[in-house]
Amino acid sequence: MERNKNFIADLLEIETPAFVVDKQSLEKNLSILETVKRRTGCHILLALKGFAMFKVFPLLRETLDGVCASSQDEAKLGREEFNKEVHTFSSAFSESEFEAVIRFSDHVVFNSFNQWKRFRPRLSAVKHKISCGIRVNPEHSEGTVPMYDPCGKGSRLGVKREDFDENALAGISGILFHTLCEQNSDALERTVTVVERSFGKYLHDFSWVNFGGGHHITRKDYDLDRLCKIIETIKNTYKVEVYLEPGEAVALNAGVFVASVLDIIKNDMPIAILDTSAATHMPDIFEMPYRPHIIGSDEKGCKPYSYRLGGMSCLSGDVIGEYSFDQPLNIGDRLIFTDMAHYTMVKTNTFNGIRLPSILLYHTENRYMETVRVFGYEDYKMRLS
Ligand SMILES: Cc1ncc(COP(=O)(O)O)c(C=O)c1O
Repeated sequence: MERNKNFIADLLEIETPAFVVDKQSLEKNLSILETVKRRTGCHILLALKGFAMFKVFPLLRETLDGVCASSQDEAKLGREEFNKEVHTFSSAFSESEFEAVIRFSDHVVFNSFNQWKRFRPRLSAVKHKISCGIRVNPEHSEGTVPMYDPCGKGSRLGVKREDFDENALAGISGILFHTLCEQNSDALERTVTVVERSFGKYLHDFSWVNFGGGHHITRKDYDLDRLCKIIETIKNTYKVEVYLEPGEAVALNAGVFVASVLDIIKNDMPIAILDTSAATHMPDIFEMPYRPHIIGSDEKGCKPYSYRLGGMSCLSGDVIGEYSFDQPLNIGDRLIFTDMAHYTMVKTNTFNGIRLPSILLYHTENRYMETVRVFGYEDYKMRLS
């Protein structure tokens, strides 16, 4: 409680907009992941697509076995900054990208047998050992949002059972499946049952199975015992190594985003314009879509003072949401958005030339707010011609 009070007081002092990652919360998540590793002997990778704050990689690498990458640049970042195992999957590699991917990766996972057959000859020229796999599509949906359902109708992700080419498996050491999004281990259990039914007979000949991401392992109500049982069963039945590659679970509730009120205007209702933007700093508000929580706020109308919170961009719909507060908002007030370390930070952009938020790291033990990165004009300019 005292820790929280201090953290919030310190957040009210910083320059905004900024992401603030809390080192102690990251450590708490890592200790849960460490327990899963210890109990089961599985391998856990950080999905860089979800969290790529490389300043904290030295801390993460004490527990995690490496990273999973989705492109040559994530693979390179993983090699340069994490430097443990690098596993790379893409829905399709280009010739030039593949060159870089194999340079930096230990595992490469192909999305089709076409891609595997096309790139297989290139692997013999590589000096280090690369373990290859195929992503399978278990045709089993656990999610309700089509945008986040890799097994939905017409999905381009993974090879279905009917297309699994058992004559092209020489050189393939494992399979990857990814079906979950922010889910508990009961959803994993159902998925694994289907995977075993469709692909079980091949698993005996493989050396690893990658369970993908979407496991909300560090959430309070997550059923760790069930997860450990599933991993142990698969390991023992097929004599394979099991990999998990969570992104979100690594940084869940480990960071906030702080913004300030720049102006307050009125059009049908009070509107507070913040020094941020949903379009540039929190695009998942539209894409996911979701409503971030702000400390001390509630839904519109639940507390005495309601506001529409708007962003700085030209987009008419650049609205974070409608919130209510106990006190009226004033220019200069800080708003603290919770659980913003994963995905939000990696998805920012500079539309309208809006400057990227700074990135800070909070050290609870001495209340030190470390400025890791402040962005400027050059970061905007270098993305353009
Ligand atoms: C193949 C794969 N692995 C891992 C992840 C990470 O998922 P999460 O951050 O939800 O754990 C994703 C997310 O889309 C993915 O597609």
